[in-house]
Amino acid sequence: MGDILVRGGRLVTGQGILEADVLARDGVVVAIGRGLRAEAAVLDAEGMLVLPGAVDEHVHSREPGMTHKEDFSTMTRAAAAGGVTTVADMPNTSPPIDSPERLLEKGRDVGGRAYVDYALFAALTDSNARRLEDLRRAGAIGLKAYMGPTTGGLGRPSDWSVLLALRFSASSGMPVFFHAESGELIEGFSSELRKAGRSDPAAHSESRPPISEEVEVARIVRLAEHAGGRAHIAHVSSAGSLEIIRASGGAVGAEACPHHLAFTVEDYDRLGLLIKVNPPVRTREHREALWRGIRSGVITTLGSDHAPHAPEEKSGDVWSASSGIPGVQTILPFALDAALRGLIDLEDVPRLLSENPAKVLGIYPRKGSLAPGSNADLVVVDPRGSWRVREEDLFYKHPEVSPYIGMEFRGRIVYTVLRGEVVFREGEVQGRPSGRWVTRGDVR
Ligand code: DOR
Ligand code: ZN
Repeated sequence: MGDILVRGGRLVTGQGILEADVLARDGVVVAIGRGLRAEAAVLDAEGMLVLPGAVDEHVHSREPGMTHKEDFSTMTRAAAAGGVTTVADMPNTSPPIDSPERLLEKGRDVGGRAYVDYALFAALTDSNARRLEDLRRAGAIGLKAYMGPTTGGLGRPSDWSVLLALRFSASSGMPVFFHAESGELIEGFSSELRKAGRSDPAAHSESRPPISEEVEVARIVRLAEHAGGRAHIAHVSSAGSLEIIRASGGAVGAEACPHHLAFTVEDYDRLGLLIKVNPPVRTREHREALWRGIRSGVITTLGSDHAPHAPEEKSGDVWSASSGIPGVQTILPFALDAALRGLIDLEDVPRLLSENPAKVLGIYPRKGSLAPGSNADLVVVDPRGSWRVREEDLFYKHPEVSPYIGMEFRGRIVYTVLRGEVVFREGEVQGRPSGRWVTRGDVR
């Protein structure tokens, strides 16, 4: 099991592109080089690109408690089909994952239903900020701090709790991811817009303008400069936030999401509440600033923020419709398309989507790398092919709410390999769920 020879492809890593075969034994890469020979299943990759499997640092499987939106099986099948071999699942569930007991229970419960490897976040709350070591020992990959209101209704941790978490992060290496939006400002802007009778989808973006993100980003940056630790700002969406992060000179990491790079407020006419998301889509100027942030390195990772909802939750009243866009199956195709069109370099794809997320999560080079000794998680892509996204191609519980349907991506994922086993081949998810729980090095 887990013996495979991927032959004849062009290997794409953050450090460069080389013609090389990849040989794995027992799910682990043992050799990279030309003309390798071995007794192993052979995948023909002539003319193809071979990349490390994507590590999607930010998904919402909706387990436990919200499985009418998605579940572990549907989410991880979609991940496999999209070239994502490790997912990190967020804790804003019902109940929220905010204690070691709940984390352990979730890890065990989803185990037999994962088609790719998975890591689990815990929520940072005022109640657990003094027992973070217990969360680490239970296997939490990181902490998530919801500074503003969104799905799940997790309360905002105090500045003191955030400071304790960053101190803990500095000593343990565990990252703290932030949802940076100010609930107070959002409440103010929303009530003005509602009083003015606004009910169009674009009102959502106006209710959460850039300043509501910037004030929280500034606060997190200052706390991180003070306390150290690995602060990582999820789904950065505005030019002003990027400027603050850039000026911090590396005190915090930054994640961008494909939906903020793909859509703007102009798309509400066409897509309506399908693109209602927190933080919201913004104007073209902000989108361009995000692309520049990727090219300049201020943005260190891409994450999908795969946040599925049922169709009836994504329609109706702008103020009560759910926020979130599914995206775990389209994140790698989106990034590859950008590279094949020349918007970013090909090497940026594994850097932003495999290596850096694995480093942030503390699982590199076990994950996110194809160097000998790494897990043989990889994806084989035909760069001459393309994929026009159809509802029937998406493995989500509710594929119809994807705003990417109809978009055409250059490049086509042919195979996804998880620890040396083919888990996706030519449109089909293969075999039984064999995903494992991935934790930081020294626990479990
Ligand atoms: O739009 C969003 N939806 N933003 C988030 O941060 C959370 C997510 C969800 O869980 O639905
Ligand atoms: Zn999220």
